[in-house]
Amino acid sequence: MYYSDDIVEEVLRSNNIVDVVGTYVHLTKRGANHFGLCPFHSEKTASFSVSERKQIFYCFGCHAGGNAATFLMKYENCSFQEALQRLAERAGMKLPEPSYDEEQQKKRDRRARLLEINKETAVYYYKLLRSPTGRKGMAYLTERGLSPDTIKQFGLGYADGARSDLVAHLRSCGYTDEEILDAGVAAHDEKRGLHDKFWNRVIFPIQDINRRVIGFGGRVMGDGKPKYLNSPETDIFNKRRNLYGLHLARRSRKDRFILCEGYMDVIAMHQAGFSEAVASLGTAFTSEQAVLLKRYASDILLAYDSDGAGTQAALRNIRILDEAGMQARVIRMDPCKDPDEFIRKFGAEAFEERIREARNSFFFALDIERDRYDMSDPARKTQFEQEAARRLTGFEDEIERENYIRATADRYHISYDVLRAAVAGYGRIRRPEASSRSGGREDQPEPQPVPAQPGTAAERPPERRGTAAQRREAALERNEQLLLTALSDEPSLLQRAERYIGPEDFREGIGRQCAERLWERLRQGRGEQAAAAVIASFEEESSQETAAAMFSRHLGEELDQRERERALADIMTAVLTASVERERTAMTEGRGSLMKLTTQKKRLDDLKKQAGNRRS
Ligand code: UTP
Ligand code: MN
Repeated sequence: MYYSDDIVEEVLRSNNIVDVVGTYVHLTKRGANHFGLCPFHSEKTASFSVSERKQIFYCFGCHAGGNAATFLMKYENCSFQEALQRLAERAGMKLPEPSYDEEQQKKRDRRARLLEINKETAVYYYKLLRSPTGRKGMAYLTERGLSPDTIKQFGLGYADGARSDLVAHLRSCGYTDEEILDAGVAAHDEKRGLHDKFWNRVIFPIQDINRRVIGFGGRVMGDGKPKYLNSPETDIFNKRRNLYGLHLARRSRKDRFILCEGYMDVIAMHQAGFSEAVASLGTAFTSEQAVLLKRYASDILLAYDSDGAGTQAALRNIRILDEAGMQARVIRMDPCKDPDEFIRKFGAEAFEERIREARNSFFFALDIERDRYDMSDPARKTQFEQEAARRLTGFEDEIERENYIRATADRYHISYDVLRAAVAGYGRIRRPEASSRSGGREDQPEPQPVPAQPGTAAERPPERRGTAAQRREAALERNEQLLLTALSDEPSLLQRAERYIGPEDFREGIGRQCAERLWERLRQGRGEQAAAAVIASFEEESSQETAAAMFSRHLGEELDQRERERALADIMTAVLTASVERERTAMTEGRGSLMKLTTQKKRLDDLKKQAGNRRS
């Protein structure tokens, strides 16, 4: 950590994670925890949980997890240090100067250097566009209808002819060849060595939500190929998680987004006053981007090209947005190819009109389906109507489904009664599948501990051994998690537990490290919010998430004290049994220690005796 553990803990103690998360996610209290829709993946049912007692969050769906600082880091896409500063600010604390450890300092510096290089590059191209060299570029942009203000707002630039002058410039600024290459603004080959990636193109800098330049798109001025060249993915440029124009669109105050296909579309739209326009980055729209947009608005308009590819992309995105819980509407672009062309030809008001007329995504998709059928042929018409009925069963809410049945009957001239009956018919067939889907969500908190099932593998047919072993491993993982969760929930349990079990009984890896750190804290009497502190002690985000999982496996809330104790004894027995097994295997392989095995077995026997007494 850049700040000492004490400071990190003080900042975490001064903020209640429920309040921190609550400003971003609508949380509802259920039992000891708060639940809400996970902001880190698409979902319709709440599997995102926040524990007030432990001051951690965990998503049972996507396994994102951590403490309040981790949450901010992920949500605001910022560093741990920045997250800590925000939390300190929230709590009215003043942080001392951070101290750096070498390894982290290096990583941090590297990212900062790559960002600097991208910024320097943007400035370089920006100036070049405005110099005599850039005349051709400026003429091109002007010819495409962009005003000087727009060109400035988007920081557009120009990359000169074939010389590697950007590389030379960056070298003169003191950046190494390796850094220049890693920043994505140069390429390397045998013949030319390190050379500019972009040349003879107008340049579109790509900014992240915090306005930092993370990459570039470069367009040929004319008909050359490829039309656009883009920066590669780098440590600072993630194409799945950023959107062109989002840094401006998120402040548009329009409570909606217009999703376009191209950079030029976004720019033309902003210039025409549609500052809510964004586009994906030369790649297909992703579910990560859908989740990102959902943070700021729930209404999405698709302004995709009117050609076949654009229509297919729109259909695909409708599904992605739907999975993220967002309703999309589709803007008709004909007779133009794309929004840029539409705005130039017909102007902003006509586009506003098209927005008002935008087709609901359900009918957009169904219209496309209808166009595949010859409606004058009764057999084909029947097929279409059956397809419509099938799709209508997708609306789970009864009122919504009813509204759509009516609208569909109207729109395609189908008898309402017949359509309704057909939908009901499908509903009967579909119901079991639908209910098992909503009821069978994976990875929900388990009400009961799962015993380790020793010895089951041998009794199964050989071909199933692999899966049995896997299941046993999963059960063991769950038991280790249950044990750590229970101890962090009730630190006083350690006194009893540590007579039988220690961190060395956990499998090697993050689980054991968590156990070691938790044991240490509990022994020192620092049990309060131990889970949040242990999570904070891991540097990598992925390790923090694994650690958060270790502390988020709940025993049933509904268990009474006696049942909980019994469950805990079962869990400890399972973990200890597995540990004994491992030691025994190690012995046969000549690695283990007989003394360790003997004491372990003694502890296991004691534990079983103890549990037996309690039970009778
Ligand atoms: P389009 O071909 O629709 O281009 O590609 P456009 O945005 O309308 O551009 P203009 O108006 O011809 O200048 C849409 C998007 O697909 C990506 C770019 O992000 C572009 O904005 N793309 C397209 C590429 O990355 N490379 C290409 O060669 C073409
Ligand atoms: Mn275009």
